[in-house]
Amino acid sequence: MSIDSLQDALHAHLARWGLRHVLSDADYFAWQRDSFSSTDLNQLNQQVERKRSGALCDDIAFYDLTAQPHILPVLYSQRYEYYCEIGARVAARIHPAKIVLDVGSGVGILTTFYAQQHPQTEFVGIDRSPASIGRAQEQAERLGLTNVRFHCADLEAASRRRSYDLIVATHALVQAEQDPGVPSRSWETFERVRDSLQQTDFERRTGIGSKLDRLADLLAPGARVILFEKTRQLARRVPFQRALAARGWHLAEHPEPVRYRLVEEVADDGPFYVLEQGWEGSVAWDESPEPDEGQAFDDKVLRARSHDPNVPLYENHSPSAQRAWEQLPDRTVMNECTRREADGRELHVELGRISGGVYLYCANTFDQRQLVIVPPDRVADLEGYYQEIVQAP
Ligand SMILES: C[S@@+](CC[C@H](N)C(=O)[O-])C[C@H]1O[C@@H](n2cnc3c(N)ncnc32)[C@H](O)[C@@H]1O
Repeated sequence: MSIDSLQDALHAHLARWGLRHVLSDADYFAWQRDSFSSTDLNQLNQQVERKRSGALCDDIAFYDLTAQPHILPVLYSQRYEYYCEIGARVAARIHPAKIVLDVGSGVGILTTFYAQQHPQTEFVGIDRSPASIGRAQEQAERLGLTNVRFHCADLEAASRRRSYDLIVATHALVQAEQDPGVPSRSWETFERVRDSLQQTDFERRTGIGSKLDRLADLLAPGARVILFEKTRQLARRVPFQRALAARGWHLAEHPEPVRYRLVEEVADDGPFYVLEQGWEGSVAWDESPEPDEGQAFDDKVLRARSHDPNVPLYENHSPSAQRAWEQLPDRTVMNECTRREADGRELHVELGRISGGVYLYCANTFDQRQLVIVPPDRVADLEGYYQEIVQAP
């Protein structure tokens, strides 16, 4: 089935779950106001706050609350485009698996879609939220699906060792968006040293190490794994990929970054990984930053004069700013400072002259890069910013 026809089938499936594709925040919040009482809203806000604490019981309580029948369609509609993007990609890759495990299946919106699209394949969804599993079982029955079962279990306790020939985990393994990840070797590079202590510490802090070990136990020999997590940021993507490679998993396809909207907000997650066990593929792990939208440097900008004197000649706040900084002609450093921050990251700030401009460059070991160039007569502005950054506590 083509991705387009899977997308069509997904729209029909999501409608059966009561989900709507809402495109504006105004419409979305109007729907929320009509559907939720003030008690619902208070409970949801409180539970979101508690979930941030990272305690297991709060995580389960959050998903139990969101699985309530009057809350589910509204709240999960925020993820409408996520379901379309991920559901179609996964469904297109189920074949030739005979038995598939969906880890952290939640209320089963995607698991029931896969089961519907692949009636000859057996699906098992596990989740540690009892209310989510209750909803998943109810809906599977309503949809008349006989090839899917849901169990309330933590991944750590999942049984059936070496039995699944495909495991899918989407937004289920890395609940660690706040974790800074692993720093680069220095502010001048995006490269991470191979430091087993740092790697082990990352895997322990985020819990990803033990979860991947558990998945490895559940896989049949030669099985595949599909993963999609919030690991876009290079500092997390690199140790995450190294953790996958260390379990003997190889890339079966080029990992694809996926972008979708949560109503109006654009979410950049991913990449979408398709991995194969015990098979040395030809796709190499990529540890470089993703191509970004930062403008390439061209020294013509130094001769151009904007109509607005407050607009810089050049500005780039993405990793490609490093390349631009390296290309600056006849760089003369006026002031520079490299220091270690309280959280361990190294920061470099540099104020300098080039012919036709003055620049301010900031770089740190968590992949942030910024380059701003202004005409020479605006040097005082950049001096001010330089001092602000250097003197910040
Ligand atoms: C953001 S939801 C994602 C649901 C679904 N995979 C999807 O893509 O829509 C994350 C789910 O993972 C479940 N989960 C997280 N860690 C788990 C674990 N160790 N064992 C079982 N379920 C887990 C949570 O209870 C929650 O329902």
